Amino acid sequence: MSDSDPSLCITPGLAPWRSSLARALHRNRSRPYSRYFQLATVTPDGYPANRTIVFRGWLPDTNTLTLVTDRRSGKVADLAAHPRAEACWYFTHTREQFRLAGPMVLVDSTDTALAPARQTAWEALSTNARQQFYWPHPAAPREVQSSDSPQAGHDVGETAPDTFCLGLLTPHRVDHLELRGDPQARYLYRLQTDGRWTGAPINP
Ligand SMILES: Cc1cc2nc3c(=O)[nH]c(=O)nc-3n(C[C@H](O)[C@H](O)[C@H](O)COP(=O)(O)O)c2cc1C
Repeated sequence: MSDSDPSLCITPGLAPWRSSLARALHRNRSRPYSRYFQLATVTPDGYPANRTIVFRGWLPDTNTLTLVTDRRSGKVADLAAHPRAEACWYFTHTREQFRLAGPMVLVDSTDTALAPARQTAWEALSTNARQQFYWPHPAAPREVQSSDSPQAGHDVGETAPDTFCLGLLTPHRVDHLELRGDPQARYLYRLQTDGRWTGAPINP
């Protein structure tokens, strides 16, 4: 995205589903994979596309999930065509699923408004994670002899390369399913046009 539209990314106040998700993250914290979710997008030609992503925390003072990705990756073209996504997150210890759907934007090096958030996300990455942004073009045919092969080390600095994008998913609809319990429980939360959330139990 070039200059950000904050109204797309920021909804005021803590959404009612945030406490349930915070509790799930806390209660599943001994399982490192609890910080991975599946992110679904729609390709430019209308196919679903789904992949695993690491949750990188919340954009401060918002209900917006952050992630990091490579500007050259397929999901970036998907989001340019269809700027919406759904995260599907299953917590194995507590046996609950969250599906979080809403608009998604990518913050790249041309964005000024969210440049500090992008920089913070870059600084939070390990050296190994930063290296990936210097790898050859994702999904291009692998050149075995390339000195630019994924194994080659790059000097990674404090300034994020142009390939580095911060992703912001702002849920407008959250579906929380709890398998534990008899009967199971399911809650649906929706963001209204006036910025308020509604939430209600629904049948599993
Ligand atoms: C455990 C795990 C974590 C991953 N985390 C990320 C991530 O945080 N960001 C990312 O762009 N890709 C991540 N990936 C790789 C993606 O699943 C995917 O292969 C890659 O982003 C290319 O997807 P795309 O072509 O649909 O854009 C992860 C893969 C796995 C298995």
